[in-house]
Amino acid sequence: MTRLHHLAAAVFVLTAATASASIVDTVHNLSTSGPGTIKAVSEDRVCVFCHTPHNASAAAQLWNRADPAGPHTPYTSSTMNAAPGQPTGSSRLCLSCHDGTIALGATLTEDAIAMAGGVTTMPPGTANLGTGLHDDHPVSFIYDPALAIADGQLADPAGLTGEVRLDAAGELQCTSCHDPHDDTYGDFLVLPPTDDALCSTCHDRTGWTGATHNLAFPGAPSPNACANCHDPHTAGGSARLTSSNVEELVCLTCHYSSGIATDIDSEVAKPSSHPVSLAMGVHDPNEALPVAQLHVECVDCHNPHAANGAAAPPPFVDGPLEGVRGVDGDGSAVVEATYEYEVCYKCHADSPGVPGPASPRQIVQNNTRLEFDPGNPSFHPIEAPGANGNVPSLLAGWTTASVIGCTDCHNNNEGPMAGGAGPNGPHGSSYANLLGWNYRTSSGAESAGAFELCYRCHSQTSILNDDSFPHHYRHIVEERASCNMCHDPHGVSASQGDNVNHSHLINFDLTYVQPELISGDIIFEDRGNERGSCTLRCHGENHRDESY
Ligand code: HEC
Ligand code: HEC
Ligand code: HEC
Ligand code: HEC
Ligand code: HEC
Ligand code: HEC
Ligand code: HEC
Ligand code: HEC
Ligand code: HEC
Ligand code: HEC
Ligand code: HEC
Repeated sequence: MTRLHHLAAAVFVLTAATASASIVDTVHNLSTSGPGTIKAVSEDRVCVFCHTPHNASAAAQLWNRADPAGPHTPYTSSTMNAAPGQPTGSSRLCLSCHDGTIALGATLTEDAIAMAGGVTTMPPGTANLGTGLHDDHPVSFIYDPALAIADGQLADPAGLTGEVRLDAAGELQCTSCHDPHDDTYGDFLVLPPTDDALCSTCHDRTGWTGATHNLAFPGAPSPNACANCHDPHTAGGSARLTSSNVEELVCLTCHYSSGIATDIDSEVAKPSSHPVSLAMGVHDPNEALPVAQLHVECVDCHNPHAANGAAAPPPFVDGPLEGVRGVDGDGSAVVEATYEYEVCYKCHADSPGVPGPASPRQIVQNNTRLEFDPGNPSFHPIEAPGANGNVPSLLAGWTTASVIGCTDCHNNNEGPMAGGAGPNGPHGSSYANLLGWNYRTSSGAESAGAFELCYRCHSQTSILNDDSFPHHYRHIVEERASCNMCHDPHGVSASQGDNVNHSHLINFDLTYVQPELISGDIIFEDRGNERGSCTLRCHGENHRDESY
């Protein structure tokens, strides 16, 4: 017997047995006995709306419906490996009602079956998917081991032998997720909508097992953890089926002041912040790195499938940054950032349009990767321990062998590192330049609070005691200078400075430091351990080779 004959036989058997028993109580029973609002005026046969044992559509298996003409817009995205075309197989049958183009009662064997209330095609609403399938889970493509390998985060299709199945041609169809005869779990789903069971049968997201989002949250919008951010149908952000086309809103629906998760919405609204609402539709998970067009989204720094609460010492990424792409110290893209700075270098290094220097400096460098390069004459130790083995001001907990994170300086001013109760991370700060601690860059009275940032790690007592530079006290207290007038908080690139003129993070702020009157020079010269000289003009005083 052919497959058609098998099916014909089965339809007759099942009419009186299992299929009828389950389908009659569902909205797919469009006959007069159906439970839904959409049903026939007088037709009392259940199966006829979809099947007929005779004169069925030549296009498909015993179907009693015209083939939807389409064309349908298939799902597409920059990350998809498969390239679905027009719907095939049984998906076409579903669409003969669910794309809203063919009257529900229009069958091949009967004249138009009249529907109650004058309903013809599928009424507007979520059940009417339209012909645009760009915002629906992709269907009608072959899901074979080659695809699983190409995608890298898919289960082996050979394992799909349970409720979740491919069709006889090995294609993923509507029926991979739905059984049109059985509504046990609601929405005709083949598995209960709890946790991530349905989605994870096929998707094996890296990091998901230990991810914080892999939870059935109390008060979460969906019992399906994946569906908290993804909509399998009519998704707001069509590419990748995210709940909104406004990237940050996918996250802020929970991460806001009255949401069920840590409030980041209020953070990004602070005076200095990562402007997640700056751009829309620019971020792409496959974008070339370093980033070519200025933007920043939550998912540039977080992988929602892998983020977790693990802690690691600098320079390593903490759990919240796990599984994020990066750019390493050489400027090359890395699939998964190991170090925190690699996440920042995606945008604050070789990208065009990166924020310029906050203060006008003798040596200008917007590329933080070049500022922190361990080959530099001086640099704060981000990638590797610093260049100076003699830093007497370091407080307990810090040594010249320490490495620190960008977030040791750029962070939430009310976050846990600053002694507050707000969330950790460089989302927003009340202080300029997204600094987590106060740092006065203008002239003014010295105090622990004025240079709170530097005094986190450098002893105020040691600095003002002149333990290293013998004129620290004089400049900082008596002349009311900021650290910023002499020191560059990042570093000086080896391509621009050398270890005679730019050791000790010396890179003057030109707002305050002017050329020496006669030579027109601005020069710092290192003359050995705690010895040096300056040629410049500052606070109204001319220094001509003034040495210490
Ligand atoms: C709303 C449309 C719809 C209705 C109504 C419907 N079916 Fe189906 N049926 C389908 C679709 C679609 C398939 C193809 C499923 C697949 O390919 O996995 C199918 C397949 C079948 C099959 C083949 C099973 C298989 O796995 O290949 C049988 C048997 C069947 N239907 C019986 C019935 C019976 C009996 C009724 C009435 C009690 C009925 N159906 C009502 C849509 C419907
Ligand atoms: C003969 C027309 C017809 C066909 C063919 C059809 N459906 Fe439906 N479907 C309906 C109607 C009518 C509803 C109820 C819509 C409403 O109440 O707004 C419905 C509802 C649904 C729902 C929502 C259930 C709920 O509880 O709200 C899902 C899911 C669904 N169909 C999936 C499918 C799939 C998958 C196929 C193909 C395998 C399919 N349908 C084929 C007519 C059809
Ligand atoms: C990858 C799994 C998957 C595939 C493939 C799939 N759906 Fe769904 N569908 C779902 C889930 C899950 C829901 C539950 C509601 C939700 O979360 O949006 C759903 C809900 C629906 C609904 C109810 C309306 C709504 O948006 O909630 C309809 C109708 C529907 N699907 C039809 C189809 C049709 C027709 C196809 C094929 C073109 C299809 N589905 C393919 C998973 C899928
Ligand atoms: C039957 C297996 C199967 C199930 C179940 C399934 N998917 Fe998929 N999904 C796939 C395959 C295969 C692809 C295509 C992947 C590719 O080509 O790279 C895909 C694609 C996607 C895409 C688009 C990927 C991109 O790069 O654009 C998203 C988003 C997605 N699925 C989410 C879900 C969610 C959410 C669920 C649960 C509601 C789900 N899937 C259930 C197999 C499945
Ligand atoms: C907390 C929100 C969130 C949760 C939960 C979530 N995702 Fe995602 N997912 C996203 C966002 C946002 C993107 C797009 C990332 C980007 O643009 O960089 C995405 C992208 C994807 C992609 C396509 C990207 C690619 O690289 O292939 C797939 C497939 C996917 N998710 C599947 C799933 C599945 C399956 C689950 C559940 C096991 C899930 N997601 C849970 C937010 C989430
Ligand atoms: C369904 C609600 C929900 C959505 C949507 C959501 N989150 Fe979360 N997220 C949570 C909950 C709950 C936690 C754990 C408690 C907390 O930290 O607020 C969490 C924690 C986190 C953490 C910290 C992980 C840890 O354990 O320390 C990060 C990072 C994160 N989310 C990023 C995102 C990003 C990025 C998005 C958007 C792509 C997003 N979230 C969308 C609910 C959500
Ligand atoms: C995807 C790109 C991107 C990534 C990744 C990124 N940033 Fe940013 N950052 C931006 C954008 C865009 C701005 C706003 C620039 C503007 O306002 O002109 C910004 C602003 C800043 C500012 C404030 C500058 C100012 O002028 O006020 C600091 C500090 C900063 N980022 C530090 C970091 C740190 C630390 C990291 C790593 C944890 C990081 N950024 C990762 C894009 C990014
Ligand atoms: C020791 C503290 C410290 C560390 C560590 C640090 N920064 Fe900064 N950063 C500052 C200060 C202070 C400013 C403001 C400088 C000024 O006002 O001249 C600043 C300014 C910035 C700016 C604004 C533009 C500019 O260059 O002035 C960006 C962007 C930035 N930092 C990114 C980073 C990134 C990315 C990292 C890690 C790779 C990092 N910072 C590490 C202290 C630090
Ligand atoms: C999170 C801790 C931390 C913070 C905050 C910090 N520093 Fe440092 N700083 C260090 C460490 C560690 C070293 C040692 C590096 C080395 O051995 O070269 C260092 C070294 C220095 C040096 C000596 C560099 C050299 O090559 O001689 C100067 C100057 C300096 N810091 C100034 C500052 C200023 C100014 C601030 C405030 C804007 C600041 N630091 C904030 C940790 C910090
Ligand atoms: C520029 C990079 C960047 C951007 C953009 C960004 N984050 Fe973060 N986020 C971080 C860093 C860094 C941390 C701290 C990680 C750590 O623990 O060291 C963090 C921490 C978090 C935490 C955990 C806070 C805590 O105290 O446990 C949550 C939740 C979070 N981010 C959510 C978001 C959401 C939602 C968005 C978008 C509105 C977002 N982030 C945007 C870098 C970023
Ligand atoms: C007038 C310029 C000037 C100002 C203002 C200044 N410094 Fe310095 N600082 C120097 C010079 C020059 C050295 C190098 C001394 C040497 O030869 O070792 C130095 C060395 C240092 C060192 C490395 C040695 C040590 O003491 O641990 C630190 C740290 C430091 N300064 C921090 C600060 C901080 C913090 C401030 C602001 C509160 C500040 N400096 C203000 C010029 C300045």
